Amino acid sequence: MVDKNAIVTGSSSGIGKEISLILARNGYNTFATMRNLDKSSELRSIVEKEKLSTLQFEQLDVTNEQSVQTAIRNIQNKAGKIDILINNAGYGLVGAFEDTSIDEIKQQFETNFFGLIRTTQTVVPLMRAQKSGLIVNISSGVGRFGIPTLSAYASSKFALEGLSESMSYELEPFGIRTVLIEPGVIKTNFFNSTVFAKKSQDPNSPYADFMKNMEKNFTQMIETKSSTPEEVAKVVLEAIIDTNPKIRYLAGKDVEEWIQAKKKMTDEEFHRMFKDH
Ligand SMILES: NC(=O)c1ccc[n+]([C@@H]2O[C@H](COP(=O)([O-])OP(=O)(O)OC[C@H]3O[C@@H](n4cnc5c(N)ncnc54)[C@H](OP(=O)(O)O)[C@@H]3O)[C@@H](O)[C@H]2O)c1
Repeated sequence: MVDKNAIVTGSSSGIGKEISLILARNGYNTFATMRNLDKSSELRSIVEKEKLSTLQFEQLDVTNEQSVQTAIRNIQNKAGKIDILINNAGYGLVGAFEDTSIDEIKQQFETNFFGLIRTTQTVVPLMRAQKSGLIVNISSGVGRFGIPTLSAYASSKFALEGLSESMSYELEPFGIRTVLIEPGVIKTNFFNSTVFAKKSQDPNSPYADFMKNMEKNFTQMIETKSSTPEEVAKVVLEAIIDTNPKIRYLAGKDVEEWIQAKKKMTDEEFHRMFKDH
């Protein structure tokens, strides 16, 4: 048993579920949070089978202020302190920029960016008072480079990269570290939960062919290049165990290749290479 309490958002499936499991299995007192507790049955049956007394559940919708406040208060009351916050909840919005409405983009940011701000701003005062803490933000490879049909999603991840880098300077003097995890293509429910911008589904959209190509490319990448959520969870555990955590951790062979290439190229060379890919 590790004397550390962790909160994971978006634990109902995929990466969040695996992070909750790996932490609980490694002795962290883990609060697997999700917006709909009806989706906890799979995790609950693992808890029962493995007698994982370190895993508990809490309702938390990152877009709902009341839900966030209640969840964090309940966890603080139960655990006494919060050592690790893992901001994982998120979804992808797909569509050419021109086909994506401002309301759809606002909703994307409401979950992927403002949701993360909501949980972090609730937890930071508690961590600051105890003079220790770790905030792990699940970003993406597309938090480092933009790709077509994912402008809103990539923007939300770029935003959280800027936020993480900036706030890390302010929080470090209080013993709070901030870490970014940048997964590549991971085989999870993410692609089934993708929201398509309404106008992008119009067959007469000037970007219809573009969308078809991108869908084909994504399907191919998921089949041939994807990593598993368990691999991402291992990287998260590595970051948590590090006594001097890095600012960024890549998770997945594909993203490692992209970032390595990006480091060696000018922006224009990278742009051309991506276009031809
Ligand atoms: N899969 C990839 O290729 C990939 C790559 C890079 C980064 N990521 C990032 O990894 C994170 C996890 O995604 P995943 O791949 O594990 O996808 P996933 O299987 O679809 O899981 C997403 C999780 O986020 C939750 N969620 C969505 N909106 C929420 C809200 N308002 N409040 C609380 N929870 C909410 C979902 O809950 P419900 O079940 O209720 O919908 C689900 O638990 C996301 O931030 C994603 O951007 C994924």
